[in-house]
Amino acid sequence: MSFTVDIHASRAYTVRIESGLLDRVGALLREKTAAETVCIVSGQQVWPLYGQRLEQSLHAAGFRTLCFIHPSGEQHKNLKTYGELLEFLAGEGLSRSDLLLSLGGGVTGDLTGFAAATYQRGLDYVQIPTTLLAMVDSSVGGKTAVDLAAGKNLAGCFWQPLSVLCDPALLETLDQRELRCGAAEVVKYAVLRDRALFETLERGGLAAACGETVIQRCLEIKRDLVEEDEFDRGSRRLLNLGHSFGHAIESCSGYALRHGEAVAAGMAMAARAAAARGIFPETAKVRLLALLGQFGLPAETDFPVGELAEAMRKDKKRSGERMTLILPEAIGRCRTESVPLAALEDWLRLGGAR
Ligand code: GLY
Repeated sequence: MSFTVDIHASRAYTVRIESGLLDRVGALLREKTAAETVCIVSGQQVWPLYGQRLEQSLHAAGFRTLCFIHPSGEQHKNLKTYGELLEFLAGEGLSRSDLLLSLGGGVTGDLTGFAAATYQRGLDYVQIPTTLLAMVDSSVGGKTAVDLAAGKNLAGCFWQPLSVLCDPALLETLDQRELRCGAAEVVKYAVLRDRALFETLERGGLAAACGETVIQRCLEIKRDLVEEDEFDRGSRRLLNLGHSFGHAIESCSGYALRHGEAVAAGMAMAARAAAARGIFPETAKVRLLALLGQFGLPAETDFPVGELAEAMRKDKKRSGERMTLILPEAIGRCRTESVPLAALEDWLRLGGAR
């Protein structure tokens, strides 16, 4: 069965969700591009699992392929890897009419997108997400970036892909920890916009979070927010639920905690802070914390308030002397709250940090 979600941003494209689609990538791309060469960008862990099948499918459709394999892990989503990728593309003579293709999770997708946006002032790229987190969130919406020493995603731009091809069968090789990370983003969508989805997750657990219809529902919610506010000045910022606290936790851990784990702990902090301020009912907070627990996700952090506040001040979501927090009001509804940087310590304490 095939599901699609059409995204109408500065470029219109379709996200296709279909089990087994990896073997049809070449034929699907042939309908969309006249590129001669496809440069596949993939991580060291993902490439051995799926690289050969992907290349076969592309060759069968008449594409020439190149491969750039980068070391795995968020610590390699940096200017060094980005520079090496650009030099590789230039060395191989990739032209603006060719195509980049990301085969991997969020790190590979963000890196590939940023290279596609900037190599020769921009060429097309396609996302084939291989993690649940990348399928429901990072592969869609055109955010591209690499990290700087000062913080996550500090160099990047908006550059929408030509197409996003999701094959949920690829999740079969994903380890439980990485699946749980993706589930954190699925919970985020439920808290943002869909009470029924939240109840599906409560009943169905991790297996439900990986289902094709759940992936499609998350992408519909993301589509609505991206179409309303592609460049992240207003409602799209709701997608940062759990991320302001979460990025600080991730950064304080030196990226030992994965993104989804930090987002889960960040959502729990947002829920506690909102409940303490009387914005979010206690009963809803308890349900959210229980669901994160059911998924084996962290709901607390041991990093001191001062360190977390320092990391938050470096976050690109800061705007002058203020920062926007996303707070839940109900399961299925959230709001933005602009807070002064001077009040961050108070918010962190309300969120349960010490
Ligand atoms: N991952 C959040 C966004 O795309 O806006």
